[in-house]
Parts: sequence; structure tokens; C-alpha cells
Amino acid sequence: MSDAPHVFRDISSLRAAVARWRAAGEKIALVPTMGALHAGHVSLVEAARKVAQRTVVSIFVNPAQFAPNEDFDAYPRTFDADLAKLAQAGAAGCFAPPAREIYPEGFSTQIIPGGPALAGLEDRFRPDHFPGVALVVAKLLNQAQADSAFFGEKDFQQLAVIRRFAADLDIPTRIFGVPTLREADGLALSSRNIYLSVAERAQAPLLALVLNETAAAIRSGAAPAQAAAQAALQLGAAGFDVDYLEARHAETLAQIASLEEGPIRLLVAARIGKTRLIDNLAV
Ligand code: PAF
Repeated sequence: MSDAPHVFRDISSLRAAVARWRAAGEKIALVPTMGALHAGHVSLVEAARKVAQRTVVSIFVNPAQFAPNEDFDAYPRTFDADLAKLAQAGAAGCFAPPAREIYPEGFSTQIIPGGPALAGLEDRFRPDHFPGVALVVAKLLNQAQADSAFFGEKDFQQLAVIRRFAADLDIPTRIFGVPTLREADGLALSSRNIYLSVAERAQAPLLALVLNETAAAIRSGAAPAQAAAQAALQLGAAGFDVDYLEARHAETLAQIASLEEGPIRLLVAARIGKTRLIDNLAV
């Protein structure tokens, strides 16, 4: 087990450490999280450590990205367990600021991301979500001033939104996406999987299976929109309540008519019982 990461509670001590590391010729990576860390987060730290000598993981449950009907207070907070995982994973620092450090008295700025943030996917169901994500991620990137930052491809629209606003706002930190970790049966790792009943857990891998079959069909010449619509029907027939299953341009998330027009990503959100699962796959 490596040493416990140094815990930074304020921006100035984080920046001072980053400046010291940089002066010593070290590269710095940032992994933004909201805590409740699992193997997916650890894989982000592992990816970060391949390109940086110092990896800082931020843990901040960001109130700005929760809608009033999404229970901010009930979001799991497991700081001691998180810190033990970060020590194991070899993170150099953990930035865990109190809310007043991020949103001090008088804070009044918003970021309204466009492009992939308005693709009509997650934003259709959670309209306040990406403005809240963009605001906190822009602040974290600016606070840490890292060379690179790592985000999971599991939240594919979020990753596209972050890449877009980071480019638009000339943020120099290089943004990396890390492939989704999966269970042996294909189910994407998610903290929500624990809410699945035994029967739902047995059904859940169908999501990834259907994405794989749909990707294969598109590669064999099926029209993307029709193949995706067919897949949504298949999931519906199997008992999923599908919010969306769409084939989109992998960078812009715009509608796309064929593979000739650019790389395609399949994105799905579906409820099984009370649990909402999201997943995505490259075609
Ligand atoms: O993906 C998450 O955990 C959050 O949306 C992020 C990127 C840490 C911003 O709060």
C-alpha cells in the first residue's frame, strides 16, 4: 500500500503543491470525482498515473448538478474508505474542499454549455445537469491547473460536454476519456448496480448485449437510426423502460445517417425496476 494521499481542503494549498511538483519537473493529473469510489474510479487513477508523476483526485459532491428531485443529501459520502482506495491506487493528493471553497458567499456565475450538452440525450431528462457539471469541472480544472484530467467514458455525454467547453474556453488541461470497466457478463460498472434485485441483475447485461449486436448490425450496413430504434424495442420487450437508445456522432453527439459521416457511438439510458442504467458503445 502506498502512502495516504495528502488531503487539500483549499485551493491555495492545492495550487502551491502543484506548483512545487511542476517546478521539480513532474507532470500532474487531475481525476475529478464525487467520491463513493469504486473500481471504475481506480481505473481512472491508474490511467492518470501512466502519464503523470502526481495524480490528484478531487472529491466534491457538487450541489449544482443535482436537480431538486435528485437527492443531493442522500448521495453516498464515504470519505475514509475513499482515501484508503486512493492510497492503494497511488494517488499523490486528494482535493476535498468544503462547499464554501467552491461556491463562496456571493457566487453568481453560470456556464451554459452548448453542442453535445444539448444533444437531446441525458439533457432531455436532466436539463440542469450539464450546466452544473460544466461549472464545477471548469472550476476544478482552473483550481488544479493540472497537465491532464481523466473522465470515464461511462458518462459519455458528460465527457463530450467537458471536451467541448474545455476547447471553447481555451482550458489548457488535456482531457482524457477512460474506457468503461465491465463485469464478466458485460454489465458496465456503476455504483447504481447495487440497487438491482437478483432478477434485475440477471436481466441487466442485456443492455450491453443489445448495444454490441446493434453496433455489429450498423457495421454490417444497417441504417444507424433504424438499428437503434429496433434495439430500443427489443429492450422494451424484455422489460426495460427505455429513456433513449440512439446512434450519434461520437464527438458532436449530433444525429448521424451512416458510418461514412463519421465515428458512431451508441448511447442508452433505461430503467430496470427503479434503477436507471446508462451505457454506450463505439460502433
Ligand atoms: O462524473 C462525476 O462524478 C461528476 O459529474 C464530476 C465530473 C466529478 C463533476 O462533479
